[in-house]
Amino acid sequence: MKSLKIGNIGELISYNTEKDAMCRYNNVEIIIDKGKILEIGKNLGPADKFFDCKNKLVTPGFVDPHTHPVFYNSREDEFLMRAGGMSYEEISAKGGGILNSIDSLRNTSKSLLIDKVKSRMNNFLKFGTTTVECKSGYGLSTISELKSLDIINTVNQDHKIDMVPTFMGAHAFPKEYQNRKEEYVDLICNEMIPEVAKQGIAKFNDVFCENGYFDLDQTTKIINRGKKYNLYPRIHADEFCDSGAANLAGELKVVSADHLMAISIDGIKSLAENDVVATLLPGTTFFLGKHEYAPYHKIKDSGISIALATDYNPGSCNIQSMPFIITLACLYLQMNILDAIESSTFIAAKSLMMDNVIGSIEKGKNADIVIWDFSRIEQLPYSVNRHTVRSVFKNGDIVFSA
Ligand code: NIG
Ligand code: FE
Repeated sequence: MKSLKIGNIGELISYNTEKDAMCRYNNVEIIIDKGKILEIGKNLGPADKFFDCKNKLVTPGFVDPHTHPVFYNSREDEFLMRAGGMSYEEISAKGGGILNSIDSLRNTSKSLLIDKVKSRMNNFLKFGTTTVECKSGYGLSTISELKSLDIINTVNQDHKIDMVPTFMGAHAFPKEYQNRKEEYVDLICNEMIPEVAKQGIAKFNDVFCENGYFDLDQTTKIINRGKKYNLYPRIHADEFCDSGAANLAGELKVVSADHLMAISIDGIKSLAENDVVATLLPGTTFFLGKHEYAPYHKIKDSGISIALATDYNPGSCNIQSMPFIITLACLYLQMNILDAIESSTFIAAKSLMMDNVIGSIEKGKNADIVIWDFSRIEQLPYSVNRHTVRSVFKNGDIVFSA
């Protein structure tokens, strides 16, 4: 592989480990070799190839640490029901929501689903996302959960994007277990988790801990069983109401607690004391037509690391664009733009325990880089309906060009 110099950079914005802060650099160049960043600095020597940034902005590739991309049918009717005044919870109680995606996932062939997931991954790359966490969770039977994880791993093998697989058998109780929920928890603990671990097909184990879904005891059981099998824990916590899920996330020392729209002050304390990353999903609040966003400033003031993610899924958030999530974060979480970039890159990588290899443009890290078609970072949240990603590099290869 030939070395590459990325030059004529207008401004480079990245987290800097030594300074433990986001930094803005002018007139720097990047040398990439064997897919890694070899050097960053001014007036570097020659390389085999040259990429001209034409004085535009350069940032790290986005890391999206929360998505549900393995599904078949779309659910636009639910969107319109919300537009008509129904809530997500009401629609779910009538058989919509997660359960509306189960039959089609179970009944669709692996190859058709692989095609769907591949094209979704192409779309992530176009928006500048170079690493994406991908959950199972629309199968809810051992065979269909394994199928979903197999699809993620199969696409990951030859797609340029990096996919990080998460097992989420605890996304909802399938129809056939509605009246015997403890049996489904046992199935997850005694059959699904051991098999997922045996096949080595997931890194994380995620639970939807919420009233009407998995309660605190069930969540504890599933998370602890996952830990025994070396699956790192994460929790969907306090999305619709404060059910004590964020408190539990702290007690169980999970890697990341996600959503947190309804987190309590105690929940915030628990995450802070236990060094849990808070992954916020403003796209979901927006797409659900809700108005109470996660209390970003309260969470931030307690010293918690905050990541941003899309939560891309067919029901509550049909959004794949991290630039649009950043727009929402600026407007509705009142994040400043540099914090929003840090949360979408470096801290998002921390949410996936990958901040030593991705998430910033620094020597030795993977060369995952986005070149924009503007020079000022302030244009990013402002450019809502324009595609502003000009080029995307993944491990030093150009994988998207506008
Ligand atoms: O993260 N909250 C749970 N799961 C998804 C919703 C998935 C669906 O509606 O299909 C979420 O918002
Ligand atoms: Fe989710």
